[in-house]
Amino acid sequence: MKPAVMVVPGESFAAVAASTIADRIATALSRRDGCALALSGGRTPAAVFRDLVGRNIDWPDVSIYFGDERAVPPDDPDSNFRMAREAFLDLVPIRPDRIHRLDGGATDLDAAAIAYERILPDPLDIVILGIGDDGHTASLFPRSEAVGETRRRVVAVATSPVAPHVARLTITPPVIAAARDVVVLVAGAAKAAVLAAVLEGPDQPGILPAQLARRGTWIVDRDAAAQLHTGDH
Ligand code: 6PG
Repeated sequence: MKPAVMVVPGESFAAVAASTIADRIATALSRRDGCALALSGGRTPAAVFRDLVGRNIDWPDVSIYFGDERAVPPDDPDSNFRMAREAFLDLVPIRPDRIHRLDGGATDLDAAAIAYERILPDPLDIVILGIGDDGHTASLFPRSEAVGETRRRVVAVATSPVAPHVARLTITPPVIAAARDVVVLVAGAAKAAVLAAVLEGPDQPGILPAQLARRGTWIVDRDAAAQLHTGDH
């Protein structure tokens, strides 16, 4: 399945991504009661999440999950939960009991992964992902054990080859494959080479885990799209 790629000017990236996510939430809610939305982490989504705040979304019907989390406390500057909380979770009327944090601060990350698996809907309605310049997505890193996982839906990752170099919790390939909708957010010139490899290179998700999301909707700014052959992916 060819990826759907939306290339947008940098200055409108956050607005286009937020509008797309809002539309996908509305579509999910038109089909079922409730929308289970898994958030990506890192830096790229923060501006997109901030742009969600002003949009007309039925937040009380949305349940929030996380695609991955760093092994840090929830108030740590590296916490994906903290990023999302500050960007929009504290600013919209989502029911607190419908925000399901991945417990990155747990002393036993394997137990935290098993506990999260029990509450993670199967399938999720929408999974938002990013990609690292090494081709990872969520905390599924190239050539890792987790990227080859076919049974578990949430696992602990002992070390991260990219900063922050801490252990992680992450959803696995089966969760991405099962998701009703996948939206991938990619911005910045540093992602141009890897994005071209992911979208237009040979299919090798063990090496380029972001290829697990090729069937999704890719929202890409012009800098990140610089090495794409427009239109033929
Ligand atoms: C994380 C993310 C990760 C992220 C990419 C891109 O915890 O770091 O979930 O998968 O999406 O690393 O991160 P940037 O947006 O910061 O480039």
